[in-house]
Amino acid sequence: MADKKAQLTIGGETWNFPIMEGSTGPDVVDIRKLYASTGAFTYDPGFTSTASCESALTYIDGDEGVLLHRGYPIGQLAEHSNFMEVSYLLLNGELPNAGELADFENTISRHTMLHEQLMTFYRGFRRDAHPMAVMCGVVGALSAFYHDSTDISDPEHRRISSHRLIAKMPTIAAMAYKYAVGQPFMYPDNSLSYTGNFLRMTFGVPAENYEIHPAVEKAMDRIFILHADHEQNASTSTVRLAGSSGANPFACIAAGIACLWGPAHGGANEACLNMLREIGTPDRIPHYIERAKDKNDPFRLMGFGHRVYKNYDPRATVMQKTVREVFDALNVTDPIFEVALQLEEMALNDDYFKEKRLFPNVDFYSGAILSAIGFPTTMFTALFALARTVGWVAQWNEMISDPGQKIGRPRQLYTGPTERDYVPVSQR
Ligand code: SDX
Repeated sequence: MADKKAQLTIGGETWNFPIMEGSTGPDVVDIRKLYASTGAFTYDPGFTSTASCESALTYIDGDEGVLLHRGYPIGQLAEHSNFMEVSYLLLNGELPNAGELADFENTISRHTMLHEQLMTFYRGFRRDAHPMAVMCGVVGALSAFYHDSTDISDPEHRRISSHRLIAKMPTIAAMAYKYAVGQPFMYPDNSLSYTGNFLRMTFGVPAENYEIHPAVEKAMDRIFILHADHEQNASTSTVRLAGSSGANPFACIAAGIACLWGPAHGGANEACLNMLREIGTPDRIPHYIERAKDKNDPFRLMGFGHRVYKNYDPRATVMQKTVREVFDALNVTDPIFEVALQLEEMALNDDYFKEKRLFPNVDFYSGAILSAIGFPTTMFTALFALARTVGWVAQWNEMISDPGQKIGRPRQLYTGPTERDYVPVSQR
């Protein structure tokens, strides 16, 4: 298929542009020479039809509801793998053998502590600061402490800073929670698993031992897997664009955290649980579904719809199953889950949602689990950022190590005033 071409005719003149094929999924029209050839730009503000890069990390088929990480289906990884193994897979391209996994886990566990002076950063925030504000600030500040791993042209620096970011995010997130509730910070315990360590740093207190509930640890680890990476979503694209200028990885990940915070993206998990709580009871669902369909009402069903999935988000399927597992293990129920189940059923049977192909996404059920485990809704997006850090770091490494990498610099369709002369204030 090397000679597959796309033709474009403007003003009677025709140009050919090469078509590139991936290992699977849509072909791309290589328009890198379009402006130089035609003097015109393409126009795609939300990047609905634009491939920004070549990547071998994650493949999504939105029509079929397929999500693969380095070729492995998310359902199989969620069922059989763990977050450290998936992290290794995303970073290195293959599943590790037992020795490789043990080495990776040991490396990560040795970077879980923060520089002691970073603790004072937390003191500068109000106690009621949103944890995502804290995450943005503290992660950005890491570049002030780790000068020995910010030379992005050095593969060893890239490796160390990648491991530092993956390792320190649980510590930073747990400390944001502790600071909010006024409890002392807990230091990491490297004898625990990555996820167990996070749970102890979050819910443990110095005054007593913390018992890690196996079902909670398993569910939390699975939630991390489900959030690890997701192709060129808004926050990953932010990390790539920030990284394309040569900014250090800590600053790039802080930029990704800022973007993820938005309710249209990672902030949807917090917004979704708040929405379910506002609905409160199943009898109020029809009113909210009508609001979501009303063009004049800005209200949208949070946790529903997706730019790529026009079928069920495979992560939502796993998440719904995990709700039941956690509820059973903790012997809890939450009327919110019943509201979510009935809301999903009503929406999926409503013509508006069927026509627009709107389905539950990863954020629709995660809140019910996180709330049952004990997290406040304000921590939900911080947990998403914790898990997505490995995806951001893997995508950043893939971009930086691409020899063809160049700074991202989109153009525009200009609709402002054309050139005009300055008018002195006395004549205005
Ligand atoms: C994540 O990109 C990723 O991969 C993201 C993510 C990841 O892992 O990184 O998967 C994580 O961000 C999941 C999405 C979380 N966001 C939400 O749940 C917020 C609610 N969803 C929507 O705001 C919306 O669906 C988006 C933002 C997710 C996607 O929006 P698009 O692709 O820009 O689609 P759109 O806004 O153009 O919607 C198409 C139509 C519109 O109606 P029309 O203008 O065509 O008449 O569907 C409607 C929208 O009004 N619509 C909804 C809706 N989502 C879209 N109507 C009601 N409720 C909704 N949730």
